[in-house]
Amino acid sequence: MDQIAPLAAAHGLFSPVRVGPYLLTNRVVMGPMTRRRADADDAPHALHAEYYAQRAGAGLIVAEGAQVSPQGKGYPGTPGIHSARQVAGWRQTTDAVHLRGARIFLQLWHVGRVSHPKLQPDGALPVAPSALAAPGMAETPAGELPFPVPHELSAAEIADVVAQFARAAENARAAGFDGVELHGGNGFLIDQFLRAGSNRRTDAYGGRAANRVRFLLEVTEAVSAVWGPSRVGVRISPINPWGGMHDPDPAGLFGLAAEALGARGIAYLHVAETRTRRPMFSWSKLRRRFGGIYIANGGFDRYRADAALRSGRADLISFGRAFIANPDLVQRLRTRATLRPADPALYYGGDARGYTDYAPMDDAERSAPPRYEWRRAAMARLRWW
Ligand SMILES: Cc1cc2nc3c(=O)[nH]c(=O)nc-3n(C[C@H](O)[C@H](O)[C@H](O)COP(=O)(O)O)c2cc1C
Repeated sequence: MDQIAPLAAAHGLFSPVRVGPYLLTNRVVMGPMTRRRADADDAPHALHAEYYAQRAGAGLIVAEGAQVSPQGKGYPGTPGIHSARQVAGWRQTTDAVHLRGARIFLQLWHVGRVSHPKLQPDGALPVAPSALAAPGMAETPAGELPFPVPHELSAAEIADVVAQFARAAENARAAGFDGVELHGGNGFLIDQFLRAGSNRRTDAYGGRAANRVRFLLEVTEAVSAVWGPSRVGVRISPINPWGGMHDPDPAGLFGLAAEALGARGIAYLHVAETRTRRPMFSWSKLRRRFGGIYIANGGFDRYRADAALRSGRADLISFGRAFIANPDLVQRLRTRATLRPADPALYYGGDARGYTDYAPMDDAERSAPPRYEWRRAAMARLRWW
């Protein structure tokens, strides 16, 4: 028997799926990608609306990380969701995407220690669970500068950050989003609380895994009080080492977090599945412990995406970089057209170049016979998950 003969319950990339209250038209998600083109007030504008509308073939778009407060900012040009101008700017994006029939969530972001006084209000120190500097350099308006030792948040200050997330969630509603995704990965604030390498606290937010998960759950509950849990997603990246992140037991820690989030009935768990030989990590086990809608991300192509969905180990697949140069990615995946490469030099900052000027398929591409890459398809089927 064919090893990947579709199971009775299996679905492909182009079948509809229910996520929270929404019936999405397909299982292709545009993953959140910071592009750093906000204006001087950290507000998105017409160019953002055009960019996201071009990519509205995705069943779900997760818009780039938006800082929940001025304190949550870590890079020049990232948009916020804490001022009236920013809400009005985002409204252009949500209207444009809804006109084209897609759903759009906003990723809520607080960078924690991955910042610098030159990016902070009144030149303050960035904040974190513990006074431990991230390795590497911050990108500031004055050039690259080492990440400073951050200010360790007190319990009262933690409550204030949770309130920042709740206010941002309210603003995202006012801006017309369909839901929000908490950025719990990639070495930013929530991740800094989760992983032992950046959390040395001895109070209720540090120490054993159940304590380190507390901040994530408090934020989830505060944001769920605004949106209802079925419109709140959470993104994690259990073994991504970026930002000096590490934990002695990622499977135990993230299994516990996933279970607690599952019990709260959130819309989905979005997992950046870093692929390494070490540490070994079972994404399937993580998914089982969560028990709800699972979005897999990380280096997927059409074949691997299809294999993951048909084997039932993920419900949706999110694509990041492929969406940058291929605004009509869904159509390209459907017709097995070749994907165009993006120019990484134009990922961050600047204007329309490398942002909204990637064209959809031209006539030659549209009429080319679909290419079935047997080798890649076979490899995807054989991959051990
Ligand atoms: C330019 C760029 C910006 C990104 N910004 C974010 C972000 O704001 N939030 C986030 O969770 N991940 C971010 N990521 C990670 C992507 O969402 C995704 O996890 C990563 O690109 C791997 O998926 P891919 O192999 O499909 O590109 C970014 C990636 C890129 C390339």
